[in-house]
Amino acid sequence: MRIICVNNYDEMSEKAANILASQIILKPESVVGLATGSTPIGMYDHMVRAYESGKISFQRVTTFNLDEYFNLDKNNPQSYYFYMKKNLYDKVDIPNENINIPNGMVEDIERECIRYEKEIRNKGGIDIQVLGIGRNGHIGFNEPDIKFEALTHMVNLDEQTIRDNSRFFSSIEEVPTKAISMGIKTIMRAKKIVLLASGKEKAESIYEAIYGKITPTLPASVLQLHPDVVFVLDKDAAWKLDSKELDKEYL
Ligand code: GLP
Repeated sequence: MRIICVNNYDEMSEKAANILASQIILKPESVVGLATGSTPIGMYDHMVRAYESGKISFQRVTTFNLDEYFNLDKNNPQSYYFYMKKNLYDKVDIPNENINIPNGMVEDIERECIRYEKEIRNKGGIDIQVLGIGRNGHIGFNEPDIKFEALTHMVNLDEQTIRDNSRFFSSIEEVPTKAISMGIKTIMRAKKIVLLASGKEKAESIYEAIYGKITPTLPASVLQLHPDVVFVLDKDAAWKLDSKELDKEYL
C-alpha cells in the first residue's frame, strides 16, 4: 500500500488523473474501473484536459463503473450514467460500446449482475480501479455489513449513505434506497486500485481503512490485503494517519 498525501482537493485530483493517464499511455487498451460521487469530479476534469491537449485518448479504453442506483432512469440527472456522461464520456473520444455501467432499470436484477461480471471477465479484468470512500467506509455501494458481498449485487443503501447522498436530490425521499454495485471480490480482482479522499469528514474512515481491523463493517479495510493499492489523500483526509508512512508533498 502507498499513501500519497497532497495539499488540497485540486492536487489530489491532478495526482489521480496523472496515475490514470499513465495507465492509459502505457496500455491504450486498458480496462478502467470508475467511480462517481463528488470526490472524483476534479479528477475527471483533469482527464478531460489531458484528452483535449492530446496527451491521452480513450479510443481503445474500456470502462466499467462501480455502481448505479436501482430504478432511476439513466436520463435522471442523479443517475450515475448521467453523471459519467456529463463529467467524462461526453467530453472525450470513448466509443459508446466501450462504456459499461450497471443497468438499474432491468426487471431481472440478478441476471444483470451476472451479465456485468461476465463482461468484466470477457474484457480480461480491470487494470485499474478508481474508488472513493463513504463516511461509513463503503466502497462502491458495498455498505457496512456482517459479511463481504463478493460479486456484483443489489444493495440496500445504508441510512447514512442515503442522508449523505440526499444533498444531490431535492429531498431525502427522492434518494433511491437500493443500488447495484460491484462486489468486494470484483473490486479486489482489479490489478491496481487508486482510492481518493478529500476533506476532514473522510479522515475517520480513512484511518480505519488503513489501520483498522479488516472487517465487512468497514468495507474499505479489505484494501489492506490488495497487492497494489494507492490512497491519494488531501491533508484533511489524512490528518489522523501516522506521518511517517505518508509520501508527503505538502511540507
Ligand atoms: C457514493 C458512491 C461511492 C462514493 C461515495 C462517496 O455513494 N457510491 O462510489 O465513493 O458515495 O461519495 P463522495 O465522493 O460524494 O463523498
